[in-house]
Amino acid sequence: MAQKKPWGGRFRQKTSKLVEEFTASIHFDRRLYPYDIEGSLAHCRMLARQKLITKDESRLIIDGLRAIKKEIDQDQFIFTPSLEDIHMHIEKALVDKIGPAGEKLHTARSRNDQVATDVRLYLRDKVQEIIGLIKKLQQSLVGLARRYSDVIMPGYTHLQRAQPVLLAHHLLAYYEMLKRDRERFFECLKRVNVLPLGSAALAGTGLPIDRRYVAKLLDFPSISANSIDAVSDRDFAMEFLADCSILMVHLSRLSEELILWSSSEFSFIEIGDAFCTGSSIMPQKKNPDVPELVRGKAGRVFGHLLSLLTVMKALPLAYNRDMQEDKEALFDTVDTVARVLTVYSAMLGQIEIRRDKVNKAVQKGFLTATDLADYLVLREVPFREAHAIVGRIVRYCLDRGCELTDLSLDELKKFSDRIEADVFEYIRPEKSVESRVSTGGTAPGLVLAALKAAEKELK
Ligand code: ARG
Repeated sequence: MAQKKPWGGRFRQKTSKLVEEFTASIHFDRRLYPYDIEGSLAHCRMLARQKLITKDESRLIIDGLRAIKKEIDQDQFIFTPSLEDIHMHIEKALVDKIGPAGEKLHTARSRNDQVATDVRLYLRDKVQEIIGLIKKLQQSLVGLARRYSDVIMPGYTHLQRAQPVLLAHHLLAYYEMLKRDRERFFECLKRVNVLPLGSAALAGTGLPIDRRYVAKLLDFPSISANSIDAVSDRDFAMEFLADCSILMVHLSRLSEELILWSSSEFSFIEIGDAFCTGSSIMPQKKNPDVPELVRGKAGRVFGHLLSLLTVMKALPLAYNRDMQEDKEALFDTVDTVARVLTVYSAMLGQIEIRRDKVNKAVQKGFLTATDLADYLVLREVPFREAHAIVGRIVRYCLDRGCELTDLSLDELKKFSDRIEADVFEYIRPEKSVESRVSTGGTAPGLVLAALKAAEKELK
């Protein structure tokens, strides 16, 4: 059914159906309705307080808006593309419900400051939800680290075995990333939490409104300083998408590791059956689809960031309809990130570390070669020389297909007369991690303290 447009006064022709459908955003912006109504309630109270509408009119508007909210909540509201967006739907429903008083709600307001307010209210909610979900994920991560706090694994660089590290230390690296992610979202919240309403279309309004009062009602700690900026700024949304993208980078890296570790080649972990899927043709398969999809969804979130950056990059001030394209990117990102965080926390609780395999991996690949070089340094061999000596020892082992620990003292002494019987103690993986006591290192004492600190922080 075609509707008379609230903006139809200057038009002679009816809007083309094609255009109605092309410009409509109602199929996605309807999810803003609770925020749109919240903003309108505050706006209405301010209008009454400023005597721009009467107390009776304000009463009617408030009751009307609440009734509309109920109808939408209960799926009894009819949406139609000819009413474009959620703002016009609610205004039209209000006028239908309460008559002329409803036509006063849009006093001193434009959809430009209205939509900016709605999106900020929405994002304020969602950012806090995401911060909470990240914390839950950190808890799962720390729980996993705690369960296996004694496990030593190979640390890697270039995906080649490098030095022994505690598995908990490796996992706590992700804890740190997630901690920074949470900080970033808290930062983002500061810039989301600014009230644009009262900027009207772009220039402000001549009517005697009270923006501070609206900000107080909507619990915004600050109000925008420039009306042109207020209606054309989507920095806060880009920042949110950037923060989500960085978070997804972190989760994608962890996913990559979980995928590798669950392969037969590594066999470091077993992801619970409930969190894996099978193959329709290969009966033996058990696939790590959850981390794979998380890795894939990172691409999707980065795409949303790039899409909004591109939408905004050449827009002249102030509002342009292009900006309606911000919403699907935002909504899909919020949905994706929330789902990813939720499933990830649950999955981490279902991961078992295969101690036997991890242990075995630590024994092979000359992981303590650096420790042997350090041993020589402590016996006054210059580090470069020590490095060369150990390099020759490794070459000798490679030629014989053995490990450092398989060599006899006599064999070792051929490479350096500084090597004594106590060397074997030095090149044990346990001794290696114990020795890494520099701040932030993998020594068990430090890692246990870090684990404790993380647990305390997450309380
Ligand atoms: N649906 C629009 C958006 O999402 C609302 C603002 C429209 N303003 C306008 N003057 N056409 O951006």
